[in-house]
Amino acid sequence: MSILVTGGAGYIGSHTVVELQNAGYDVIVCDNLCNSSKKSLERVEQITGQPVKFYLADILDADALTKIFEENTIDSVIHFAGLKAVGESVAKPWEYYNNNITGTLVLVDVMKKFGCKNIIFSSSATVYGDPAFIPITEECPKGQCTNPYGWTKSMLEQILTDIQKADKEWNVVLLRYFNPIGAHKSGLIGENPNGTPNNLMPYVTQVAVGKRPHLSVFGDDYDTHDGTGVRDYIHGVDLAKGHVAAVKKLAEKAGLKLYNLGTGNGYSVLDIVKNFEAATGVKIPYVITERRPGDIATCYSNADLALAELGWKAENGIKEMCEDSWRWQKMNPNGFED
Ligand code: NAD
Ligand code: UFG
Repeated sequence: MSILVTGGAGYIGSHTVVELQNAGYDVIVCDNLCNSSKKSLERVEQITGQPVKFYLADILDADALTKIFEENTIDSVIHFAGLKAVGESVAKPWEYYNNNITGTLVLVDVMKKFGCKNIIFSSSATVYGDPAFIPITEECPKGQCTNPYGWTKSMLEQILTDIQKADKEWNVVLLRYFNPIGAHKSGLIGENPNGTPNNLMPYVTQVAVGKRPHLSVFGDDYDTHDGTGVRDYIHGVDLAKGHVAAVKKLAEKAGLKLYNLGTGNGYSVLDIVKNFEAATGVKIPYVITERRPGDIATCYSNADLALAELGWKAENGIKEMCEDSWRWQKMNPNGFED
């Protein structure tokens, strides 16, 4: 019995492949490498000492997916493959809806043909929009997304929910990630953004390594303790372990399940700068700029349900997240290009 990991060469996917292999699962990766490098999987092999079976395949390509299912006995799918750049999704909505939504529909159709009806889906705290309450529990209503990327997550949650409702043989776990940062302790795998990073931590590490002169802090007039945006940062390895816990839940034939994967702690942008400086000894120059359109003031989870039902909670604190992000950046100043 194997687990198919779509998008497994990417940031969260590669960390999850490590934890799955460490937990003794047979893993197959399918990725079209549109936002990743095959080198990440070579590094995974280096970490775990086990080979990773890889298919260079697009989830839009039903024939390629069929071949994977013909050649392997796949029990469950962890579905990471998708485009995720918020700004790009505003400029290229069709590409985002096609890749993320059509891609998932094609994947689910092939899974059904092979009687594989177990799926874990990468959703996002972005589906809460401007959250109705903080800390955010799974009971919090979904909100208005501010970009097509967010809508693909919200719509795919609904699509997978409806598929499970119509056919109870399906087991669907929807995981809403908060803000993944950090990297594997080895420094061998980590987040490898293309071009200018959109997200805070990769930007901070690129300033630290001297690639960028300073950080722009997007607004200091939010209703938060220091005026800058507050988020729930979660270590990539903890997130990966959350997926291993979710695989066990699938095996219980749990039907439809939905969990927040966060730490329950909120840190502001300036808290991140301070914690990064304290953890690494590297100074991060910054300037305060305008708010970024679409940003909200505060977003952090209540992660009690994942603890109660999955037996999972995040183990790494902000210090480890900063140290590990920095180790990855320092060891790989140009990502997997080195
Ligand atoms: P990533 O870009 O590093 O990984 C996604 C992988 O999917 C990449 O390797 C890419 O090449 C692959 N891919 C994209 N389209 C594909 C297609 N059509 N066929 C095959 N492969 C394809 O991103 P990540 O940060 O590892 O995110 C993984 C998942 O988690 C995504 O679905 C993302 O939307 C979701 N998510 C990420 C975050 C975050 O902040 N990183 C937060 C919430 C949710
Ligand atoms: N920020 C800066 N400067 C930067 C980058 C970010 O001040 O250069 C601030 C933002 O304004 C925000 C905080 O840092 O207050 C975090 O921003 P990120 O871009 O790192 O993360 P977001 O919370 O905006 O969004 C991320 C992912 C989304 C995902 C969401 C919730 O990018 O895809 O987390 O999971 F949906």
